[in-house]
Amino acid sequence: MNVCVPCDSTAVSIGADEVADALTRNDPAITVKRTGSRGLYWLEPMVEVERDGQRIGYGPVTAGDIPGLLDALRSGDTGHPLCVGDVEALLESQGQRRLTLRRTGVVAPGEWADYVANGGTEGLRKALDMEPQSIVDAVKESGLRGRGGAGFPTGIKWQTVHDAEATPKYIVCNADEGDSGTFADRMLMEGDPLALLEGMTIAGLAVGAEQGYIYLRSEYPDAHRMLERALESARTNGMLGDSVLGSGRAFDIEVRIGAGAYICGEETSLLESLEGKRGMIRFKPPLPAIQGFLSRPTVVNNVITLGTVPTILAEGAEVHSSLGMNKSRGTLTIQLCGNVARPGLYEIPFGVTLGHVINDLGGGCASGRPPRAVQVGGPLGAYMPVERFDTPMAYEEFGEAGGMIGHGGVVVFDDTVDMAAQARFALEFCSIESCGKCTPCRIGSVRGQEVIDRITDDDDREANIALLRELCETMIEGSLCAHGGMAPYPVLSALNHFPDDFEPRTTAAV
Ligand code: NAI
Repeated sequence: MNVCVPCDSTAVSIGADEVADALTRNDPAITVKRTGSRGLYWLEPMVEVERDGQRIGYGPVTAGDIPGLLDALRSGDTGHPLCVGDVEALLESQGQRRLTLRRTGVVAPGEWADYVANGGTEGLRKALDMEPQSIVDAVKESGLRGRGGAGFPTGIKWQTVHDAEATPKYIVCNADEGDSGTFADRMLMEGDPLALLEGMTIAGLAVGAEQGYIYLRSEYPDAHRMLERALESARTNGMLGDSVLGSGRAFDIEVRIGAGAYICGEETSLLESLEGKRGMIRFKPPLPAIQGFLSRPTVVNNVITLGTVPTILAEGAEVHSSLGMNKSRGTLTIQLCGNVARPGLYEIPFGVTLGHVINDLGGGCASGRPPRAVQVGGPLGAYMPVERFDTPMAYEEFGEAGGMIGHGGVVVFDDTVDMAAQARFALEFCSIESCGKCTPCRIGSVRGQEVIDRITDDDDREANIALLRELCETMIEGSLCAHGGMAPYPVLSALNHFPDDFEPRTTAAV
């Protein structure tokens, strides 16, 4: 009997290794396949058994459950209390459409034969038969936009690097996933790392680069191990190295580990760090696409962006462009966490409303209390009140409602949250992680915390609220990069939507 148990670090942190051990201890005839996670984190550790071409899931499972679960696993009994039924059907019932994470949770990460048997390398093989410009055109037609947060059209970025005359050119994958509440990059790297390597190789063919780098945050040791395993497997099987799958074209990839600075997720700081320097912001222009790594034309893309490319090439641009709404095409990897009953990763076409995500998919707050605020787009994203739950999750539409989709992180708070404290936290975070190069970010973030303290201490309140707004405007307008430029958004959204929380502490409503 073949049973799948995730080796994803979230599943492992809550007992997946013990579950895998218990399975083989109780029945040595069981073969345990370690996969990534399906992202149904409230069901982890989840085990899956193959029955009549379906994967039947059971979760959350503890090692102690295994003796009582074995009969159900052997017979595929769907009446067992931990059974969640056909896992693919469950994902479909949630409206999931897995383009990027199609193999995550399905294959053994980095295992070549499993990868190829599940559609791996199909995109690259198609790209090898195409002119570089046709690859760029396919990515443009797909409507793919940068999933790291800014949503810049990927095809246009690739075109700029393709057209640049300077050589050599580079592909840099931004795997410094620093936003609080985000884990899509990690899930792909731990669950289907070969997809990322394939996407980077296709990018190399498209723009004429022969070397790629993955800049990985040091906090992701499991992803590092998986990537190294995948790199070895890709080289052994000719996807990387001197004969990219027999074509004689060369491309290779190296993993570089960051040193724990949030700011190194900003592309120019990342490039400085990759060059061995301290991670400080570079002024833009020049854009990295023109002068990036070692001042050469460089594609800097996020893990999810690059991991989506193989599917676009394999299945055609329209598989991506046909999903989503308006200018937001394809799927958003929504990472739902915080105070929510069903946290996890949901890959859903752009356009579902925030309320649907929180209430229908997430099942409301884990505390059983009503949700009050949701922060979307990381620690620098605006707080959305319940009144904005009808906002579609798409770049422009969410922006018009005062929010930011960013990397797709969604953190839920119930009605006990203190929004003045959250606003102060945004500025504290900004000051701790500021690279220090520009004054609005370095100094403004510290002064802002002091001003919030004066407001909640009832010290010249009205004047200090006006001062806080002015300071936020200065940071938005005057900061060198998005770090200082966006930190005011959580502050202003808290002030605008939750003014009562800024009442003096002695009388504040809790
Ligand atoms: P940006 O808008 O300055 O640039 C977006 C991308 O497009 C960059 O790669 C830039 O080089 C490129 N670009 C712009 N014009 C171009 C052109 N004409 N040709 C070629 N390339 C061009 O945004 P930025 O500062 O790179 O990113 C800010 C975003 O980062 C925020 O919206 C936030 O959501 C996100 N973010 C993500 C984090 C994460 O953990 N994933 C952490 C913090 C912020």
